[in-house]
Amino acid sequence: MAEMIAILTFLFWITASVHADSVINKTNSRRLKSSTDEQRLYRYLMKNYDRNTRPVYNASHAVNVSVGISLTQIFDVDERNQVITTNIWLDQEWMDEKLIWDPDEYSGLSVLRVPCMSIWRPDIVLYNSADDYKDGYMEALAMVSNNGRVFWPPIVKLRSTCSIDITYFPFDDQICKLKMGSWAYDGTQVDVFRRAQPVDLSNFVGNGEWELIGVRAVRNVVYYPCCNTPFPDVTFTIHIRRRTLYYTYNVIVPCIMLSILTLAGFWMRPDSGEKVSLGLTVLLAFSVFMLLIAENMPATSSFVPLIGIYLTTTMSLTSLSVILAVMTSNINHRGLKEQHIPVWIKRLLLCLAKVFCMRLHFIENGRDLVEPDKCMKQMDSNDSGYSLMGYENGEIIHPVVNSLKRQDGVDRSDCMDEVLQKLQTLITREDEKDKNELIIKQWTEAAEVLDRLLFWLFVICTTFGSIIILVILPLFKSVHLEET
Ligand SMILES: *[C@@H]1O[C@H](CO)[C@@H](O)[C@H](O)[C@H]1NC(C)=O
Ligand SMILES: *[C@@H]1O[C@H](CO)[C@@H](O)[C@H](O)[C@H]1NC(C)=O
Ligand SMILES: *[C@@H]1O[C@H](CO)[C@@H](O)[C@H](O)[C@H]1NC(C)=O
Repeated sequence: MAEMIAILTFLFWITASVHADSVINKTNSRRLKSSTDEQRLYRYLMKNYDRNTRPVYNASHAVNVSVGISLTQIFDVDERNQVITTNIWLDQEWMDEKLIWDPDEYSGLSVLRVPCMSIWRPDIVLYNSADDYKDGYMEALAMVSNNGRVFWPPIVKLRSTCSIDITYFPFDDQICKLKMGSWAYDGTQVDVFRRAQPVDLSNFVGNGEWELIGVRAVRNVVYYPCCNTPFPDVTFTIHIRRRTLYYTYNVIVPCIMLSILTLAGFWMRPDSGEKVSLGLTVLLAFSVFMLLIAENMPATSSFVPLIGIYLTTTMSLTSLSVILAVMTSNINHRGLKEQHIPVWIKRLLLCLAKVFCMRLHFIENGRDLVEPDKCMKQMDSNDSGYSLMGYENGEIIHPVVNSLKRQDGVDRSDCMDEVLQKLQTLITREDEKDKNELIIKQWTEAAEVLDRLLFWLFVICTTFGSIIILVILPLFKSVHLEET
């Protein structure tokens, strides 16, 4: 009996569950047979729709397409290939006369998202694209309103050509254009306009190298030689400015330091050969910077960048300083040839020394010693009885020898004579040596004065050159940009 009850309960349970299943399946199938509001609407809209023809009932009417961009990123500016890469949302809006419905018939559905492939789209392209047109646009859904307005904002990465003017590099501004228009339709069929808010920068992500100054949108109408019909387009002008911090730290500051090193070379002793090697080392460092910059630049001869002019100027100054170092070294060594400094040069040197607050001991004090004859004659005439320096057989006799002679009096042997002769030769030689040393020192001083003069000349040239190239010339650029 208990078994019977169990079996009956089991059977009842199975029937009940089967019944429940069938109930669910019935409602399901009822739902499956009928369609959703969106389905009905989509079917209704796509009935008799041809996505290859313009959606205007009267063919003499144009489809007005409004174009705008949301600039999200400046991805890259390639100076070498003159290409700028940007990420944008290309907002396009137009009226489709076939996509009109009454929202009340579809539970108040007033905006429908449809795959863009199923409706007509204007063939808006970037005229100045640097890419092949293989990729096409992202297949984003299009938003269709019940009054026929279609809004389609695909995300695109545009690689566009942009004539990059690096004259003022690294203080340059660049103006890049994005020309958007219908490729095949002319203005009578698809007319292109700016959107009410053509440029949206609310989603813009900054770039480390470039600062975005602004974006403008302008509508142009162009007549091409092919056809008599107008071709309208919307041109977006992107104005960007290079951030100079990187180049200031990595190029300009080291260049200024190298210029200072060049100046330091003039303070080295004129007889040290290191002057030339310092100059050459600085030149080498400059050429390394030259290479660094050349890597970034387009290989063009139409512009010479400002930084290039600066480097060339400082390099020329450094080369000149090497040549001048050789010259001063030559002047310094002239003393070894026992040449006297001409009098007019001495006067000039003394004048210059006064200007630079230098003291020329050897040139000032050595004036008498260089002309010994006069000096001796003076001494001779001053002294009446006792002569410091005399003449014997037309020879100059040193006062010491002379005095020895006097002390010895009349009795002097040949031996003594010989000793005196030797002594005199020695003393004369010593004098000669002193004189030569003096000449060498005078030339060294002359070289030092020349070095100081060149130092100040270089300080002036370097300072003015740097200020003109790095400060004043970039100012002209900004004025020039504002005018355009
Ligand atoms: C109900 O539908 C489910 C699947 O949805 C199926 O497995 C089940 O067999 C159906 N039941 C009946 C009674 O048709
Ligand atoms: C089409 O539009 C033009 C200009 O608006 C108008 O002259 C013409 O009558 C229209 N054609 C039809 C069939 O409505
Ligand atoms: C398109 O724009 C032109 C000029 O603004 C206007 O005359 C025309 O009516 C517009 N067409 C549509 C379909 O809105």
